[in-house]
Amino acid sequence: MELKGREIFEATPSQIWSILMDIPTLARITPGVSRLEEIGDNEFDAIADVKIGPVRASFKGKLNLTDLIESKQFNLNVKQNSKIGNVDAKVGLRLSPTSATHTELSFDGKANFSGTLASKGARVLSGVVSSLSKQFFKELAIEIENRDFPEVIAESDNSNHRKHTNMSHEININLNGKDVSVSVEARDLLADVLRDKLRLTGTHIGCDTSSCGACTILMDGMAVKSCTLLAVQADGSSLTTVEGLAKDGELHPIQTGFKEEHGLQCGFCTPGMMLTAIDLLKRNSNPDEHQIREALEGNFCRCTGYHNIVKAVQHAASLM
Ligand code: FES
Ligand code: FES
Repeated sequence: MELKGREIFEATPSQIWSILMDIPTLARITPGVSRLEEIGDNEFDAIADVKIGPVRASFKGKLNLTDLIESKQFNLNVKQNSKIGNVDAKVGLRLSPTSATHTELSFDGKANFSGTLASKGARVLSGVVSSLSKQFFKELAIEIENRDFPEVIAESDNSNHRKHTNMSHEININLNGKDVSVSVEARDLLADVLRDKLRLTGTHIGCDTSSCGACTILMDGMAVKSCTLLAVQADGSSLTTVEGLAKDGELHPIQTGFKEEHGLQCGFCTPGMMLTAIDLLKRNSNPDEHQIREALEGNFCRCTGYHNIVKAVQHAASLM
């Protein structure tokens, strides 16, 4: 499976490097890691607990770093074993400055899975990898913000004005069809910005840990959990929240489906369910019950109204 990701942080490459090479900090901010101990030259013993679908597995094994170029790059080799299978991965991490005060951290590599793990399916495994990398990026952004790094002078700034690494950002998004600019801090979650700054409270927060799906919105047409995205990650994208579904007083077909098939009870999960279903229907215009249940597996309904939710999605499919 291909592994790929990138994020821009408000810090210099050497500041990020100092965090990545600080082993106790790295262990603390890496999701699931309960042990990371140096056993040789750039070689580590690692234990990580990871939730894969409904299963929580403990992975043990070795990590090692090669081809280190300070403040620029290293390769990470991972060999981990668990009761449900093994992981063998090789990932290159790169730090590239995007300005005097910002740096892109990107990774690119491949992972091979064996045992029961391999049968989990690429969709489940890539969901786990994407959730772990988002969590790691979020924790890294918080760590950067909490560190008292020295101020950085923006080279392009002739007035000698100093920019602090913890400044706020102006992000530009297209939100439900309208262009919007909003000032956010590096640590602000997209769900909080939508609800608290943009007053779109149809995006609900149920768990804040990427489990329940209540905060699901569409980002560039793809369903994402806005509680595990930083608002700065949304810069330049098009977002659709439940408030953007009805047009000119006409319900969106998915809203009609939920209305006609009684697909909601308290309604808490409904915005997230509808936006996840729209993503599914765009990829598959006539999903069967199994495909609908699979697509909605990341969305929980506390009222347990799943049966009618499936019917609501089928109803919407017949209208779209
Ligand atoms: S609040 Fe985002 S997944 Fe639960
Ligand atoms: S309708 Fe109440 S949580 Fe789903």
